[in-house]
Amino acid sequence: MSTALVIRPATHGDVPAITEIYNHAVLHTTASYDLEPVTLAARRAWFDEKATGRWPVWVAQHGAGAVIAWATFGPFRAKPGYRFTAEHSVYVAPRAQGAGVGHALMTMLIASARQRGLHSLVGAVDADNAGSLAFHARLGFVPVAHFQQVGHKFGRWLDLVFVQLLLEEAGEG
Ligand SMILES: CC(C)(COP(=O)(O)OP(=O)(O)OC[C@H]1O[C@@H](n2cnc3c(N)ncnc32)[C@H](O)[C@@H]1OP(=O)(O)O)[C@@H](O)C(=O)NCCC(=O)NCCS
Repeated sequence: MSTALVIRPATHGDVPAITEIYNHAVLHTTASYDLEPVTLAARRAWFDEKATGRWPVWVAQHGAGAVIAWATFGPFRAKPGYRFTAEHSVYVAPRAQGAGVGHALMTMLIASARQRGLHSLVGAVDADNAGSLAFHARLGFVPVAHFQQVGHKFGRWLDLVFVQLLLEEAGEG
């Protein structure tokens, strides 16, 4: 891939690509605890909700190529006392994994979270998703909770790990 990686805010036109990338993970992995692929209509509604809440969604592509990854954050929990913490999601298309795209997207996401005055980012990672746990550790996230058997998919119980980054302690603060 010699064309430069572009990371930009997502538009409505990106929702089909976002949906396709997400649904691949839904169907084939425990990265998401959704059991069925989401419909395009549901993902459009999700995107509109993000816009209403002014929560950012980014996509990544090489040059003017197809969207290969997306990331977002949103409320960690609904009550207003949680307003300085957000939960993020990041998904890279299988063909584009392991090439630094996720890291670049998360670097953007973390900078944006800081800019918004957020204090903390939380990721919910399946305990068997060693790749995502290593990925988050590389970005400075620390495992802070390990829930046993809170998920069930593909006929088995799933443990969930919360990883957290305190934004004021990381980087330039
Ligand atoms: C997890 C995911 C977001 C990582 O994105 P990526 O673009 O593949 O990762 P990057 O190439 O940016 O890797 C950055 C760092 O993370 C680590 N890493 C990423 N994938 C890894 C893997 N499978 N195993 C071990 N380490 C890994 C590496 O240490 C790498 O650092 P390095 O530069 O020192 O090699 C991506 O693989 C993905 O979307 N997976 C499927 C969905 C998913 O699990 N999403 C997260 C849900 S919590």
